[in-house]
Amino acid sequence: FAPKLLTGHKLLLTAGPTREAIDPVRYISNHSSGKMGFALAKAAAEMGAEVTLVAGPVNLATPHGVKRIDVESAEQMLEAVMAQVDEHNIFIGCAAVADYRIATVATDKIKKSAEQMQLALVRNPDILATVAQHKPKLFTVGFAAETQDVEKYARGKLEKKQLDMIAANDVSIQGLGFNADDNALVVFDKESCQHLPATNKLTLARQLLTLIEQKLTAQ
Ligand code: PMT
Repeated sequence: FAPKLLTGHKLLLTAGPTREAIDPVRYISNHSSGKMGFALAKAAAEMGAEVTLVAGPVNLATPHGVKRIDVESAEQMLEAVMAQVDEHNIFIGCAAVADYRIATVATDKIKKSAEQMQLALVRNPDILATVAQHKPKLFTVGFAAETQDVEKYARGKLEKKQLDMIAANDVSIQGLGFNADDNALVVFDKESCQHLPATNKLTLARQLLTLIEQKLTAQ
């Protein structure tokens, strides 16, 4: 399977988690493995696209023919994305970007003392919304990781972040989503909704990219 449906397209995508430092030895992060985003990068390259992959810290090999830029934090991810975005016509935000970072990162290792401690957090920039605003002609696809009211929250993000499409996954389902080999998506655009049932992430990536190509062609 590799019909060259995406020949001539330039895809920028994010994958994996971000890591937000607490001090030189600790961080906050999440369970994203990067598998979904790397599957999208591999499938898109096979389908003829030029692919740039901005990856958070993951343990995965770079798919053949893909240009990879490694980052750690959300702020670094935003910087790498903004440096690349003007060269691309499709953006997919598959990374699980931390919504918050530590307000003041300690320069030395924090020592154990009181029974309780509090960390002050500040909001991270929203990469997807920033990209969609910066370049309205870019075809922008978000992901939505939800544990409840999947459709309501996904549609809300589609509208609020001004996206062309959003792929929602219910990450409360055992064996799918974060750090799993399989996933299932419900893909929304302004007019329609398509169910992509549970299967391996590479097959799902091909199905999602085919939907993106159909939408681009219809524009
Ligand atoms: O990496 P895997 O283990 O394969 O798992 C795949 C996945 C579950 C991580 C993936 O399928 C997925 O759902 N990715 C998006 C996770 C997420 O952060 O969802 P969200 O609903 O919190 O964010 C919505 C969208 O905004 C996402 O496209 C996200 O990349 C983007 N975002 C969020 C916060 C932020 N500060 N900047 C962003 O760009």
